[in-house]
Amino acid sequence: MRTQVAIIGSGPSGLLLGQLLTNAGIENVILDRVSKDYILGRVRAGVLEEGMVSMMERAGAADRMHRDGLEHDGFSLAFDGRDHRIDLFGLTGKRVLVYGQTEVTRDLMDQREASGATTIYSAENVAPHDFDGTNPYVTFEREGVSHRIDCDFIAGCDGYHGISRKSVPEHSLTTFERVYPFGWLGILADVPPVSHELIYANHSRGFALCSMRSASRSRYYIQCGLDEKIEDWSDERFYDELRRRLPAEHAESMVVGPSFEKSIAPLRSFVAEPMRFGRLFLVGDAAHIVPPTGAKGLNLATSDVFYLFEGLQEYFSEKSAAAIDAYSMRALKRVWGAVRFSWSMTTMMHRFPEAGEFDRKIQEAELNYLVSSKPAATALAENYVGMPY
Ligand code: FAD
Ligand code: DHB
Repeated sequence: MRTQVAIIGSGPSGLLLGQLLTNAGIENVILDRVSKDYILGRVRAGVLEEGMVSMMERAGAADRMHRDGLEHDGFSLAFDGRDHRIDLFGLTGKRVLVYGQTEVTRDLMDQREASGATTIYSAENVAPHDFDGTNPYVTFEREGVSHRIDCDFIAGCDGYHGISRKSVPEHSLTTFERVYPFGWLGILADVPPVSHELIYANHSRGFALCSMRSASRSRYYIQCGLDEKIEDWSDERFYDELRRRLPAEHAESMVVGPSFEKSIAPLRSFVAEPMRFGRLFLVGDAAHIVPPTGAKGLNLATSDVFYLFEGLQEYFSEKSAAAIDAYSMRALKRVWGAVRFSWSMTTMMHRFPEAGEFDRKIQEAELNYLVSSKPAATALAENYVGMPY
């Protein structure tokens, strides 16, 4: 088989890149090691920047998102027993859209199917080859049969644990990493959200986040130890702990109900540089991870797709490699901005086991500064709604 761009990974980055390429008449094939249902069973991001919303529009996959997504003009930082609202729209003129990654993925999969482009799910042992030359190819197995796809470029959109980054010789990569000494325990439940806007809470018992997927579906998280086990967290224990970390008005009004998803996510910051190796590009979580505080992961994957799509389009339509050559530099500039923001939100909002009284006082001072200074609140808000591409 031959195609122009072989895309490894059918997560949001691979699907979005694939759709933009398809719409531009550039042939592509997407390969994923798991099934479509498995991918649609993952619960992850929930907050989309305007840049991501316009990329979904460019992909032609935005109708359901516009119908069902919830526009949010602000969110709350809860500390000292009360909410402090950050007026995103008032401070920046921009909003965010609350719409689940699962739905983004479903919309992009539907659009891909409608446009007739090829996706190969449950592909085993996917491997990129010869990307330092001019004739790269990808091999994989399916139902015991080996296959090969020759292509012009390979896009590694296969997430943090994928094969693309691992296929690059170690000496060609520089990695930067911070692992945080806690995780997030999250649940999804069909109960109305405790507030119509998101609440990020800093509390002496640990961080908590009240988010949502719709007016009747809540997504709640609490900071937890890395050694915690899901089995030890009944819904009752989870809600009790969440309520303790929230201002009294929310704790009292919270509607509880059975969770239908519960998982623990570790938190890390990670960047691999560069993001291009000859004819292989790393995109999204394959190249970088941010801790979820501030909701940047999916949005960053999207800006990578934006820069790479521009590069590929220019290459195929104008035979110019200028934008491809600039991909890694352009993407990394925005990546590091979001890595800094996610790290600072994480540091400001969580309890660190090793932190002393001094660190706690600094956290308090930082939060007070943010909610009493318009320039400080604006700096937070402009990062939260997303820096321009
Ligand atoms: P992925 O979604 O990881 O997709 C990679 C795909 O590649 C997968 O389908 C995988 O099966 C496939 N794959 C892997 N290995 C191989 C292989 N060897 N061969 C073939 N295919 C392979 N981000 C936000 O912006 N906002 C949020 O609110 C937010 N909240 C989050 C909450 C949680 C609890 C978590 C865990 C993450 C959150 N994120 C958030 C981050 C966001 O989910 C990720 O950044 C996003 O999924 C990255 O998309 P991706 O397509 O690059 O990678
Ligand atoms: C969600 C996740 C985040 O990391 C965040 O900052 C906001 C919302 C969510 O899953 O809804």
